[in-house]
Amino acid sequence: MKIVLVGASGIIGKAVLAELKQRHDVITASRTSGDIQIDISDTKSILEGLASVGAFDALVSATGSVHFGDFNEMQEEEYQIGIANKLMGQVNLVLIGREFINPNGSFTLTTGILNRDPIRYGSSASMVNGALDAFVKAAAIEMPKGLRINSVSPTVITEAMGKYAPYFRGFAPVSAELAALAYSKSVEGHQTGQVYEVN
Ligand SMILES: NC(=O)c1ccc[n+]([C@@H]2O[C@H](COP(=O)([O-])OP(=O)(O)OC[C@H]3O[C@@H](n4cnc5c(N)ncnc54)[C@H](OP(=O)(O)O)[C@@H]3O)[C@@H](O)[C@H]2O)c1
Repeated sequence: MKIVLVGASGIIGKAVLAELKQRHDVITASRTSGDIQIDISDTKSILEGLASVGAFDALVSATGSVHFGDFNEMQEEEYQIGIANKLMGQVNLVLIGREFINPNGSFTLTTGILNRDPIRYGSSASMVNGALDAFVKAAAIEMPKGLRINSVSPTVITEAMGKYAPYFRGFAPVSAELAALAYSKSVEGHQTGQVYEVN
């Protein structure tokens, strides 16, 4: 398969690349590096990046930013960061990707544990993850041409604990390598409308 992987240089993206490139032609993308550059917060950038690839069989997103902060101080603008980037950035990858993806292809988005197991400062991440998980379930039932869509929802990743450990006390991290298997299941399996929890 020809697979576009957005966020390929990240902690999760690198592991997904290592898993998928064993069997597929993976075109790496991120904002600043990779085979192509895509900024998911900019629809023109998504369109230009995907148009430069042409037809592909799967699109995997392992990216998305949100604002982490004290709920008592957060205002609309802080929530808008996650809405514009992690939420609508990934939704727009699907909306624009529909124009280029081959029949029976798949979309795989990244959410995370926080909508089912919240932490302090994570209200925006929880909100956006929940919205994305709901989006894939709903979009799946209307996908044309045999297209599939799933999300991967990992707990905190071992390789990210250097940064996140103080916020995730009591959480058992999983390796990026283990999380990458859920992306493989989404791309290489036949299920659709699934939220793959990796705990
Ligand atoms: N790490 C965890 O513990 C964990 C757990 C559960 C869920 N998640 C979710 O998994 C996703 C990836 O997390 P991560 O820890 O792997 O992130 P990361 O290491 O910070 O990597 C982020 C990746 O996304 C790219 N990127 C950043 N902004 C972008 C944009 N606007 N457009 C396109 N690409 C962009 C980065 O490339 P550039 O450097 O070129 O911008 C990089 O390749 C996020 O949605 C995160 O919420 C992470």
